Amino acid sequence: MANLSASYISFLLCFTCINLISSHYLPENHVALFIFGDSLFDPGNNNYINTTADFRANFYPYGETFFKYPTGRFSDGRLIPDFIAQFAGIPIIPPYLQPGKRKFTDGVNFASGGAGALVESHQGFVVDLETQIKYFNKVEKSLRQELGDAGAKKLLSKAVYLISIGGNDYLTQNSSVSDEEFVSTVLGNLTVALKEIYKKGGRKFGFPNLLPLGCLPYMKAQSGGYCIDELTDIAKLHNAELLKTLVK
Ligand SMILES: *[C@@H]1O[C@H](CO)[C@@H](O)[C@H](O)[C@H]1NC(C)=O
Ligand SMILES: *[C@@H]1O[C@H](CO)[C@@H](O)[C@H](O)[C@H]1NC(C)=O
Ligand SMILES: *[C@@H]1O[C@H](CO)[C@@H](O)[C@H](O)[C@H]1NC(C)=O
Repeated sequence: MANLSASYISFLLCFTCINLISSHYLPENHVALFIFGDSLFDPGNNNYINTTADFRANFYPYGETFFKYPTGRFSDGRLIPDFIAQFAGIPIIPPYLQPGKRKFTDGVNFASGGAGALVESHQGFVVDLETQIKYFNKVEKSLRQELGDAGAKKLLSKAVYLISIGGNDYLTQNSSVSDEEFVSTVLGNLTVALKEIYKKGGRKFGFPNLLPLGCLPYMKAQSGGYCIDELTDIAKLHNAELLKTLVK
């Protein structure tokens, strides 16, 4: 009897150790992808928050090409982070807020359509950048539980961080400060987020430039068909200043 329970225990131990090994084992060249930002990168997080249809893309004709259903991406198919994941040979990165069993070792996507670097941008309808970083901190904790402190640090240091943010801050701006001052507030908030990721080990960052915002179709629709140059100018200023900020 004593023998039986001893072997039962060792079977249990061994079972646990196989579990530990399999969950700790990641190939040496494994790279995770963590994604933050706005609708250019949102894979459907807004499906799971209390918001309005304006901030969602979970209806036809969104998603009609690649996924064959409206996933919540503001696109008929894949977004840039989806292509990058596929080129990197990792699975397409799911939305953080999607319910169900979650595995973070390939990374996760926090982006929310309509979000800006400032909490005021579409406040109450989106997951702002600060909240996205809070979620990232939770993921870091859960990775430490799964992989241990050293394993989590290694994964986060090797990971790639893609961030698309700023457009919504300029599109919704209604303060009377100068462009220079407003851009520096946006980049100040982005810098706070970057420092948080850096502290957790993040080193590889990727940013798309802001688009010529004044020429977005819905902007032109409002202006009777013309590009709004002031908006495109502030986007250019943001891009130039972002580069300087990153060099620092
Ligand atoms: C969602 O937002 C609406 C409008 O702001 C509000 O009336 C409603 O109570 C909210 N629902 C939940 C579940 O928070
Ligand atoms: C713009 O003004 C509205 C109304 O005063 C306010 O609720 C909103 O937060 C402001 N937006 C920004 C980006 O400051
Ligand atoms: C971040 O944005 C807020 C407005 O939402 C502003 O008051 C604050 O100064 C900004 N922070 C930095 C570091 O620029």
